[in-house]
Order: sequence, then C-alpha cells, then structure tokens
Amino acid sequence: MLVTGNEILQEAHKNGYAVGAFNINNMEIIQAIIAAAEETKSPVILQASQGGIKYAGIEYIAALGKVAAENASVPVALHLDHGTDFEEVIKCIRHGFSSVMVDASKFPLEENIAKTKLIVDIAHSVGVSVEAELGKIGGTEDHIVVTEREATFTDPDEAVRFVEETGVDSLAIAVGTAHGVYKGEPKLDFDRIKTIKEKLNIPLVLHGSSGVPEESIKNAVYLGINKVNIDTDIRAAFAQGVKDFLKENPDNIDPRKILGPARLRMQEIIMDKMHIFGSAGRA
Ligand code: G3H
Ligand code: ZN
Repeated sequence: MLVTGNEILQEAHKNGYAVGAFNINNMEIIQAIIAAAEETKSPVILQASQGGIKYAGIEYIAALGKVAAENASVPVALHLDHGTDFEEVIKCIRHGFSSVMVDASKFPLEENIAKTKLIVDIAHSVGVSVEAELGKIGGTEDHIVVTEREATFTDPDEAVRFVEETGVDSLAIAVGTAHGVYKGEPKLDFDRIKTIKEKLNIPLVLHGSSGVPEESIKNAVYLGINKVNIDTDIRAAFAQGVKDFLKENPDNIDPRKILGPARLRMQEIIMDKMHIFGSAGRA
C-alpha cells in the first residue's frame, strides 16, 4: 500500500529501527525492491532522484512507483530524492509522490530554511511528507557534486533552529558518509548522530550509505538514524548481474534473460540491507 514517508518513518523513530530508501530508475529495480520488502516483511521507501526522473520520465516513474506500492502487501512510500529544483518538487507532488526531499543544503542557512519552509508549507497542505538536508554530504549523486573540501558536518544547534523554523518531517545529516564509491573506509561521527538525535527527536536520514560497513550502519541506526539511502550498491549489483550473464551467454539478446538475473541479484542485496537496518519483520 502507498503511504506517506512520515507514516513509515514515525514508526521507525518510535521503535528504534531504520527503513531502507532505495533509488529507482527502471522497472526491474522497482520490482527487486518490492520483492525484497515482501519477502522480509519490511516497510520500504522507493526514491527517484531528479536524474532518475529525467531518464525514465516523470509519468513513467510515478506510474511504476504507484502501481508497485498499491499492489504491495507492505507499506511503501514514493519519495523524491535530493529535490534541488522547486518546479521538480512540485511536479512530483502533483504526480502523486507521497514524500519529497528538498535539498537546499548548498545555500547559506537562512536561504536553506526559506527554501525548505516554502516546500514544507505546500507539501503539508496536501499531506505529503518532507525531508531536508542540513550540512553538506560529500561525493557525487547524479548532478550534485560536493568535494571533500566542501563537505561540512551538520551542526547540532543549527539543526534545532532549522527544524523549528521549517517544520520539516525528517532531516538528512552530514556525519561522514559520502555519495558514490568510497576510496577508504568511511569514518562516521557517531557522537554527532547521538547529540543531534537527543536535541531533535525526529527521524534522521543517512545518505551515501552504500559501502559503509555493516557495524557502522547498525551503530548509526542504534543512535537514531531511521532512513538509510542506498543507490550505488544497487547499481553495482545490477551491473554485475548483467555482466555475469552476458559473459556466460554472449549471444543471448533477450532483455528478459539479461535483466532477470540482475533483478534477482539486486533483490538479494536489498534483503540483506533490510535485515541490517532492522526493518525486516516490521510490516
Ligand atoms: O540519496 C541517495 C543516497 O544518498 C545514495 O548514496 O549511492 O552512496 O548509496 P549511495
Ligand atoms: Zn543522497
């Protein structure tokens, strides 16, 4: 069933677990995520980035996401990931997304607050949940590039002001993770997660979670993370599935035969994540 981001994340916040938010770009990825959620009895968030929407088309991605959610036996939210463009955010709300992220993190605090509050007022008036970002998460996610030098951790006191003034439902915090493939092992600032959670008491979001060691993710969830974003690990599983099949069957031209094993490969890693995040068995 299609539910709001808030319905899923408030439950996770109250009960101390996290829900996976997986990036969607095509039908096979969506099917893999839903199959994993049903198999593990887990609530789940399907999230499309602006780049994903550009690739698939808003009508296609919204329709696929809604059909998937409405036919699922578990709660599913359809979420816009890193909405940096006002019109894009509004378009998603119009197309039935149940949750949006406004990412104005590259702007100074006052401007981030103003841009986020505008979306919160609009989204809340039609029952759509809102995530925002404070601090700057490093790495590359589609068109958003933040170098190591530019990345800045979230300030806990600024976070209190930000949430009070915007009325946002959940907050993405910068605590040492980065988008894309890691060069070394990421070092998370666990004390910062703990401090922010104590001050805010709302669902917190961890971006750039692919490639983060299992123990670090579990600790972050224990300290207050309730939404864990995964994109790169799904891309890697998809690509590996396709490569392995074509290596074995170089003459096969059937898209179903080529993409089927990749879909299964993605489902397996997503199921693992659902166990690690603690969302398995919560639906
Ligand atoms: O918003 C999406 C996520 O933060 C994905 O990050 O590609 O490092 O898993 P990732
Ligand atoms: Zn992200």
